[in-house]
Amino acid sequence: MPPFERHVFVCGNRREEGHPRGCCDPAATEALHKAFKATIADRGLARRVRANKAGCLDQCEHGPAVVVVYPEAVWYGGVTADDVAEIVDRHLAGGEPVARLRLDDGCINTGACAHKPRRVPVG
Ligand code: FES
Repeated sequence: MPPFERHVFVCGNRREEGHPRGCCDPAATEALHKAFKATIADRGLARRVRANKAGCLDQCEHGPAVVVVYPEAVWYGGVTADDVAEIVDRHLAGGEPVARLRLDDGCINTGACAHKPRRVPVG
């Protein structure tokens, strides 16, 4: 079997209610990961693309629901189940990132990100 062309990592981290960093799956449903898996299978992409559950991806302030796609290292924030088909069809299958959900590269791994609703030092 050839190697996967793309991996999508879906944060399913849970934290207690009221935690200052929030979390990506407060209801512990894994619904977003399941939606990616189902849509990838539905599109016949399961041999080319793999959706993996991930713990905290350390970009919590861009959540809830942070997703990263490799090998491009394209980060998405605030992803909902309604966004999954677009990401699968346009990016995972077609190679074109979904600009409206994409996090700026300058926001990743920096406490100086101007888009963060809460200022939490990274580290
Ligand atoms: S809890 Fe999802 S990125 Fe941290």
